[in-house]
Amino acid sequence: QALLNKIRNAPKAELHMHIEGSLEPEQIFELAERNKIRLAYPTVEALRKAYAFTDLQSFLDIYYAGASVLLKADDFYDMTRAYLDRAAVDHVIHTELFFDPQTHTERGVPIEAVVEGIEAAMADAERRHGLTSKLILCFLRHLPEQSALATYDSAERLFERYGDRLIGIGLDSSERDFPPSNFARVFAKARDRGLRLVAHAGEEGPPAYIHEALDILRVERIDHGVRSIEDAALVQRLADERIALTVCPLSNLKLMVFDDLRKHSLKVLLDAGVAVTVNSDDPAYFGGYVNDNFVAIAEALDLGDRDLYTIARNSLEASFVEPAQRTAMI
Ligand code: HPA
Ligand code: ZN
Repeated sequence: QALLNKIRNAPKAELHMHIEGSLEPEQIFELAERNKIRLAYPTVEALRKAYAFTDLQSFLDIYYAGASVLLKADDFYDMTRAYLDRAAVDHVIHTELFFDPQTHTERGVPIEAVVEGIEAAMADAERRHGLTSKLILCFLRHLPEQSALATYDSAERLFERYGDRLIGIGLDSSERDFPPSNFARVFAKARDRGLRLVAHAGEEGPPAYIHEALDILRVERIDHGVRSIEDAALVQRLADERIALTVCPLSNLKLMVFDDLRKHSLKVLLDAGVAVTVNSDDPAYFGGYVNDNFVAIAEALDLGDRDLYTIARNSLEASFVEPAQRTAMI
């Protein structure tokens, strides 16, 4: 119990959080009303009840439906402010948020409104809580690379304007049958521009997708990566090259990547020397914010003081903050 309180109070960075996945059902209803959007669910309770997932796709269908209430910069501001306020309670001192522009631009929402709203809330959280943050633009991998390239081009001015905030790109959405190699060109473009690179891989997809993300996309961190455990040489490589994994225990449980948290690969990876971190992914949908994830995995895998300290330190080390801030945080 004392140990769990120590984890809750430890300074930490959250590196795998989709901002659209922080929308709680109550806020979805509020925004739907404000924007005169009809939801397929009559009540907050009915919506929450629909959060019974069997795999990644069954979650994504509801997650994209929830995001449909976001129209104006103010909506993105309110959503982001609510998440950052909540993260501060969990002693998150730095966070790197994903957002999915294609989910919004496909509905006619300008990408500028999306970034403007999110960025304003980030700047406010820095003033209000001392909580620093970066923003990572994610491409939806179930859409063609052509769409990712068009989105990248449409974001050029934003990368310029929000240079120290909007610092990288990522890859998310349905993983099976959508290998990272499909996105080689857009990642090469981002790399030439000096952007930081991450990708979801090895959540539902095979270890080969992690190799592709590293070798073809040349990413610096792997989001999830829990299936790396099936490839001993890959685990060794992740450890040797200090490639951090942004693991999301409650997400893995809810999406049935593991049917029991006690079977989660996190501890084996940690013991192999991989820079594992703990994150919430989509906290409104998976039943917990970052501290809930720390507590759940600590209890399931019987993690000790050293393990938990290492995980929290990994999160600060694996973050994309400027070197001076990193030194100050660690
Ligand atoms: N995996 C893939 N796409 C996602 C996720 C995830 O865990 N969360 C939000 N989009
Ligand atoms: Zn994710």
